[in-house]
Amino acid sequence: MIKEKDIEELIEKLEAHHNIDKEELVTLLALEDPSMIYQAADRVRKKYVGDEVHLRGLIEFSNYCSNTCFYCGLRGPNRTIKRYRMEPEEILQCVKYGASVGLKTIVLQSGEDKYFKIITLCKIIEEIKKLDIAVTLSIGELSTKDYAELKKAGADRYLLRIETTNKELYQKLHPGMSYENRVRCLMDLRELGYEVGTGSLVGLPGQTLEMLAQDLIFFKKIDADMLGIGPFIPCENTPLEREKGGNVEIVLKMLALSRLILPDINIPATTALAVKDKAGYIKGLKCGANVIMPNIGIDEYKKLYKLYPGKVPDNPSEAVNNLENIKKLILSQNRTIGKDKGYRKKILN
Ligand code: 5AD
Repeated sequence: MIKEKDIEELIEKLEAHHNIDKEELVTLLALEDPSMIYQAADRVRKKYVGDEVHLRGLIEFSNYCSNTCFYCGLRGPNRTIKRYRMEPEEILQCVKYGASVGLKTIVLQSGEDKYFKIITLCKIIEEIKKLDIAVTLSIGELSTKDYAELKKAGADRYLLRIETTNKELYQKLHPGMSYENRVRCLMDLRELGYEVGTGSLVGLPGQTLEMLAQDLIFFKKIDADMLGIGPFIPCENTPLEREKGGNVEIVLKMLALSRLILPDINIPATTALAVKDKAGYIKGLKCGANVIMPNIGIDEYKKLYKLYPGKVPDNPSEAVNNLENIKKLILSQNRTIGKDKGYRKKILN
C-alpha cells in the first residue's frame, strides 16, 4: 500500500520534472481519488499552453476503409453502412467555410481509402494552404514516399493513433496489420518534419492499467506533439459490439498524466469523450486538454462516418462536436479560443 504522502510527493515530482516510471504510472492510474492528478494537470496546462483552446476543423472526407479493425464501425467488412466519398470541390467548400469562421487548422480524415490518389490529395492540400491554414492529415498508414509527397505539398501535421502499445492486443484487434509498420509510420512522419499526433483507445477488451502506463511511456519516448485519447465505444456490426466500453475516469487520468509528462503538447478533449459523457469536453479541458475538433463537414455525410454510435444525432446542430456549441462551451469555462495555427511551442527542459 502506498501512503497518501507518497502519492503527493509523486505528483509533485511529476509536476516539477515531468518524469515518472511505469510502476508509478500504474499507481496513479489506479488511484481511487484522482483529483490531485487532475489539479496538477490543470496547473501545468495553464503554465505551458495557457487558457487558449485551439479549434481544429474536422472534415471526414471518405468513409471507405480497407482495414478490418475490430472496434471500428467503418471496417471494410461492415456492409450495413452506406459509403461515401466527398469530391475535392466539396472538401474545399468546407475548408472555405472553416476559414470564413476563423478556423486556422483543417483536419482531413478518412478511412484507409485507396481510391484517393496521392496527387489528388496533394492538390487539395495546396489549395488549402493558399488560404493560410494549417493542414492536418489523418488518413492512416502509407508508404514513406507518400508521406514525403504529402509533406512537400504542404501538410503540416499527421494523426495516427497507435491505439494500444501492447503488441499482442494490437495484433488481435487489427487483423492483417502490423504493430511494427504502425511505429514505422510514426517514425517516418517525425523524420519528415510533420507535427506528429498519436494516442490510444481506452477500455479495449483485455487492456490493463499496465498497458495504459506503457502507452504513456511510449508517448513520452517518441515525444508526441499531439495526443488523442478517448474511450472505446462499442459499435454495432463489429466484432466488439457486445463488449463493455471505456470508462470516462480512466480517460481523464490518461489525459491528465499525458499533460504532466508532456507539458507543452496539444491534447484534444476528444469527440468520443464528449459522446460518452455529456460533460466530456468540459471534464477534458479541466484535466489537461487544450484542443477541440469541431466537425465542419457536410451534414448528409456526417451521419455516415460511424466510427462508433452517438456521434451524430438526427439533428446535426445538436451534435456534440458542432462548432457553435463548442465555441460557447469554451467561453463558458473561462477559456479563450485560439487565434493562431496553434503549433506546439516546444519548451526544452
Ligand atoms: N470507439 C472509440 N473510438 C474509435 N475509433 C475507432 N473506432 C472507435 C470506437 N468504436 C477511433 C480510433 C481511430 C480514430 C479515428 O477513431 O482510435 O484512431
